[in-house]
Amino acid sequence: MLVDIVTVFPEYFDVVNLSLMGKARAKGLLDIRVRNLRDWTHDVHHSVDDTPVGGGAGMVMKPEVWGACLDDLLAEGPSPVLVMPNPSAPLFTQRQATELSHVERLVFGCGRYEGYDARIPEYYRGQGVDVREYSIGDYVLNGGEVAVTAMLEAIVRLLPGFMGNPESIVEESYTGRDALLEHRQYTKPALWRGMAVPDVLLGGDHARVDRFRRDEALRRTSEIRPDLIAALDCTHLDKADRRVLEDLGWDVSGAHPTRVSPEKDR
Ligand code: ADE
Repeated sequence: MLVDIVTVFPEYFDVVNLSLMGKARAKGLLDIRVRNLRDWTHDVHHSVDDTPVGGGAGMVMKPEVWGACLDDLLAEGPSPVLVMPNPSAPLFTQRQATELSHVERLVFGCGRYEGYDARIPEYYRGQGVDVREYSIGDYVLNGGEVAVTAMLEAIVRLLPGFMGNPESIVEESYTGRDALLEHRQYTKPALWRGMAVPDVLLGGDHARVDRFRRDEALRRTSEIRPDLIAALDCTHLDKADRRVLEDLGWDVSGAHPTRVSPEKDR
């Protein structure tokens, strides 16, 4: 995968040389090129932003500089997906990470200040570029760099050959045909400070372990992220899933679970 990152803080991305991401680069799974947006400025101050038209606080990134930079990058190689982080955009989820992990080339454009001129993504969409604007959560960061780092890590760890054990991806939260929070994990010792690992995990009965973990995933998701339960496809639920969800106050007779009563005392 070829990745270009455009930023006014290239040093932010020293982090991509660390850990598994660094190894993926070293193995050649990934080619990341970090570009300094200011290299496309022509004024003495290398300015990339200006005051918002219509008034208001802060500064907005100028379309001319971004235009010059993105024109050059688009002319360079395979047609990319252009990803622009933006707190006022749809949420980036595991679904988007999975989709973007199949793309040959990604260009990330990091906004700063109050964001970037709205004509930038609009112009490139008009040119036939696949432009995605995503928020990584309902909070505001100072710029897109941290958001890009998070999105890039979520995408790159899905590349074939990246993880030592690809099974760990299949089992984790938000992954698979139904997005559930993952069950809790334990390691040895079986007893720590008076706290025991659940017995069933020690018994070696894989079917029972799987069922215990699935029940826990359903319970935790119902409590912490009921929106994910409400999005489940009921045709994917087995008899035991249905029993657990009904016990938790969900009606599973329709296409998707619906809440019928507050969680029952168990
Ligand atoms: N830029 C500032 N805040 C952001 C957020 N929450 N997600 C993506 N980009 C951002």
